[in-house]
Amino acid sequence: MTWQRKHLLDIESLTPDEILTVLDTAKAFKAVGERAIKKVPALRGKTVVNLFIEPSTRTRTSFELAAVRLSADLVNFNTEASSFKKGETLKDTARNLEALNADIFIIRHSAAGAPHFLSRVLRGSVVNAGDGAHEHPTQALLDCFTIREKKGRIAGLNVSILGDVLYSRVARSNVWALTKLGANVTLCGPSTLVPRAFEQMGCRVTYNVDEAIESADVLNLLRIQHERQRKTMFPGTGEYASLFGLNKARLARAKPDVLIMHPGPINRGVEIDSEIADGSQSVILEQVTNGLAVRMAALFLVNGGQGPQEVAG
Ligand code: CP
Repeated sequence: MTWQRKHLLDIESLTPDEILTVLDTAKAFKAVGERAIKKVPALRGKTVVNLFIEPSTRTRTSFELAAVRLSADLVNFNTEASSFKKGETLKDTARNLEALNADIFIIRHSAAGAPHFLSRVLRGSVVNAGDGAHEHPTQALLDCFTIREKKGRIAGLNVSILGDVLYSRVARSNVWALTKLGANVTLCGPSTLVPRAFEQMGCRVTYNVDEAIESADVLNLLRIQHERQRKTMFPGTGEYASLFGLNKARLARAKPDVLIMHPGPINRGVEIDSEIADGSQSVILEQVTNGLAVRMAALFLVNGGQGPQEVAG
């Protein structure tokens, strides 16, 4: 298929073929990144704005590097030093940046729906880099890319997502992407953080952490989102670690070739022990590496690219 969308706002609205087109385009860009000359002219003359109204390390820097590798001009919007601090609205901020001929807006915002709102008020393309607890599409795409690269497939795999699902945009985007691609997704964590309502998305919910671990081909650990939780939702990090954290004893019950993933940032010793995060089954840093290729693909496609066939081999 050929990609037709101007924006990348969520995974929920994508078809399986569209998801596979992003993954295949990312594969082509990963190969480009392994060449001596890693830069391509695909976005030459275009201006990309990194509009991060929430903090980020991985997403922000990989989008920045992706824009540079595609030869775009890049504006890294600094919220703290901006007129946001004087009360300027998101819409006015974005439209002023567009008045400077920005073409692609990458937005992270604490409000769910902020990227969708911008896509309605701007002429340019909008890419969602995480909106509240709603979606984080490029994280799910890089997670799928990593799983496919490591396991050779996604369909039929058992993927268990453990942790703070309720507040996690990563969980929502992963459930949409993985189920569309035919994986069996299980969500597990404290009942206050993993409501049964998630089953309506086509996945399974269990509160039995050992069962979620034993059945998994892939374990994706989620950070406890302290910044989004009310205190009543969470008993304490010590209790969480002892009841749900991935430690050596729990990992011993897993399949020997289980893949350990985490979107980062990690709360070491809470949802995952350090020796597992840094161990041989962990692909956490490979996820970050793959994020660059996936974000190059996302920028390339929303700028009018149609698929991997257009990426020079
Ligand atoms: N996984 C992720 O979104 O990390 P950052 O918040 O550092 O971008």
